[in-house]
Amino acid sequence: MDISRRLFFAIFSLLVGMLFAVLPHLETILAATGDLAIVCTTDTPATERPDQVTLTWSDDPRTTQAVQWRTDCSVSDGWVQYREKGNDATTPSELEAKSALIDDANLPNDLRNYRFSATLQKLRPSTSYLYRAGSKQKDLWSDWAEFRTAPEGAAPFSFVYMGDAQLGFDRWGPLLHAAFERSPKPAFCALAGDNVNVGNHRNLWDELFKASAGIFDRYPLVPTLGNHDYSKEEDPHLYRQLLTLPEKGPQGAMPEHNYSFQYGNALFVVLDSNRPTQAQAVWLEDLLSHTDAVWKFALYHHPMYSSKGNRDNEEVRALYGQLFDKYHLDIAMQGHDHAYLRTYPMRAGVRVNSPAEGTVYVVSVSGSKYYSQDAHDYTQVGFTDTSVYQIIDISTNPNRLTYRTYDPQGTVKDEFSITK
Ligand SMILES: [Fe+2]
Ligand SMILES: [Fe+2]
Repeated sequence: MDISRRLFFAIFSLLVGMLFAVLPHLETILAATGDLAIVCTTDTPATERPDQVTLTWSDDPRTTQAVQWRTDCSVSDGWVQYREKGNDATTPSELEAKSALIDDANLPNDLRNYRFSATLQKLRPSTSYLYRAGSKQKDLWSDWAEFRTAPEGAAPFSFVYMGDAQLGFDRWGPLLHAAFERSPKPAFCALAGDNVNVGNHRNLWDELFKASAGIFDRYPLVPTLGNHDYSKEEDPHLYRQLLTLPEKGPQGAMPEHNYSFQYGNALFVVLDSNRPTQAQAVWLEDLLSHTDAVWKFALYHHPMYSSKGNRDNEEVRALYGQLFDKYHLDIAMQGHDHAYLRTYPMRAGVRVNSPAEGTVYVVSVSGSKYYSQDAHDYTQVGFTDTSVYQIIDISTNPNRLTYRTYDPQGTVKDEFSITK
């Protein structure tokens, strides 16, 4: 074979190889490069049987529990049946759900389905309930599952915090399940945004719900919005349609984008860092100045201390940072940078000696997309190319917080504690 023919075959083979490498990621690439409408399919189209049963909080975790699920459009009624665990002889209480038709014109094998949502009220604190969701007309129900309401006041508990899920749900699912196999069971799971890669593409949420089956129907999901949940659109409407969250937030902000709740002796503030506004800061200061919580956490997407210099979020830092300092936030739980970073305790932009004097800022990633990381004087622990989850344990008498980061093998990759 002459040299020009060899060269031709070499280039041809390279191009074919590149094409096959790119095809599986076409949706990701197109979504990242523009607002192209793209026809997708879902592996898990809705059926008449309820699935994607998900717990969230839209109100007080001590006395309420929001339940959501989906069916195909042949189902016209939705109900939650529930009772206290242990009262097996009693007839379950019932609550009718609201339904919403969810369209996705880009999903021809699941164009429309119903999302049902019901918020159970007047529950008893620190109490386990059994529940199932479904249709009375069709007599089709989810399996009975169990949830537990939050304690009335201070009590030991733990929760899971994970960074961007976004891509690689086949590996993210086992990581999430591993977090909830730990004992004692965490109370809920906080996700720091970029929940999926293109927020208004329902097939990607289907992947998330499939990977999390058996978890979010027992342990509430506490989500926030990342840039990929917006994905260059003005309105991440699917996030709000799929998840029932508190509607009271900053003046002028979309409902459910910013919210807060208290669990035990801890305050959790969830912020939409895609839309940092002065009204959001006013709302945040009102919350932080009126709480008597021992522990204060914030959950939002864009880090105040970034992995890389070109990923700085100055506007977010300027807006939230002074309030975190003034009211002494304990831990800021962030995502976006696709590498793990924990800062030294920080106050007014500089390192301080202990968490008693400042706030610890964490960037974490749970999906399979990784970025590199620069060295910074604010980095206490940093590493790359590893998906992790965090378990934060809160104990009382004395008030102590223990934070641990685990890799997929269950190895502790980072750890610190704060005693108050
Ligand atoms: Fe992001
Ligand atoms: Fe991300």
